Amino acid sequence: MTKSYQTVKVEKDNGITWVILNRPEKRNAMSPQLHYDMLDAINELETDNETRVLVLTGAGESWCAGQDLKEYFRALDNNPAERRRANWASQEWRWRRLFTFPKPTIAMVNGYCFGGAFTPLIACDFAIAAEDAVFGLSEINWGIFPGGLVSRVLADALCYRDAVYYIMTGDPFDGKKAAEMKLVNFAVPRAQLREETIKLAKKLMEKNPHALRAAKEVYKLCRTMDYSQAEDYMGAKSTALRATDPEKGREEGTKQFLDDKTYRPGFGAYGRKKG
Ligand code: COA
Repeated sequence: MTKSYQTVKVEKDNGITWVILNRPEKRNAMSPQLHYDMLDAINELETDNETRVLVLTGAGESWCAGQDLKEYFRALDNNPAERRRANWASQEWRWRRLFTFPKPTIAMVNGYCFGGAFTPLIACDFAIAAEDAVFGLSEINWGIFPGGLVSRVLADALCYRDAVYYIMTGDPFDGKKAAEMKLVNFAVPRAQLREETIKLAKKLMEKNPHALRAAKEVYKLCRTMDYSQAEDYMGAKSTALRATDPEKGREEGTKQFLDDKTYRPGFGAYGRKKG
């Protein structure tokens, strides 16, 4: 059963789960309620068998206009207990849970993407933007700086010069520029955004989901390890994958290549038994 929320819409279609930030009248700015709803939705979807790829997008003309300046900032200035609760939920879903979500994640950036929205944007495995989407690290224009985790995650996603430039000028940029800087994988005309997102999701659904999960965890977590930790972790992870993969992908793929000669791994996934 698909749960319903006040500020988030969840739609499931053939393995793709569309998680839609749903406050279009506020350009999908993130209120405390939206953080609680998103955390709950991600919790549910992590173990939902119908969800094979998660797409995060926004209702209406905006992807996400950042933290809600009224409900998340000003209204909580004198309410430290609620501020702490909302802040925790906000960091939990936007970074920790989304970054290591056990299935592939795609940010489909359909419009405005400002400030705190950069955290979930960068947490997703992939990002595809409309060419005319508008991005901005506008914090400097509010007399603040990209906080939460934004400045930290930007260090992973943009080169030093671009990050400092946009942090300090607050200049907006479009989807094409975001693709040029590799903040998103690619940008497409708005009319093709959904179709291109589905194409990528389908490509991912052809792969072994257990290997996909391990692949993203290994890459993302190794980035901050030193070489000996990474080597040890990857060794252990590889043993764990072989032991727990119900498809026995490594054995099956090797058999199809070496014995059956039915496929060449350079050109596609091994012939998986569709479950
Ligand atoms: N926090 C709270 N409310 C927001 C918001 C935000 N981050 N972004 C938009 N809204 C609200 C507006 O206050 C307005 O509410 P109202 O109808 O009650 O007056 C509504 O959403 C529509 O916004 P509006 O500015 O009229 O829409 P627009 O389409 O002309 O512009 C934006 C859209 C996103 C360019 C513009 O709203 C904006 O610059 N928002 C701030 C984005 C930002 O800097 N975020 C980072 C915060 S650190």
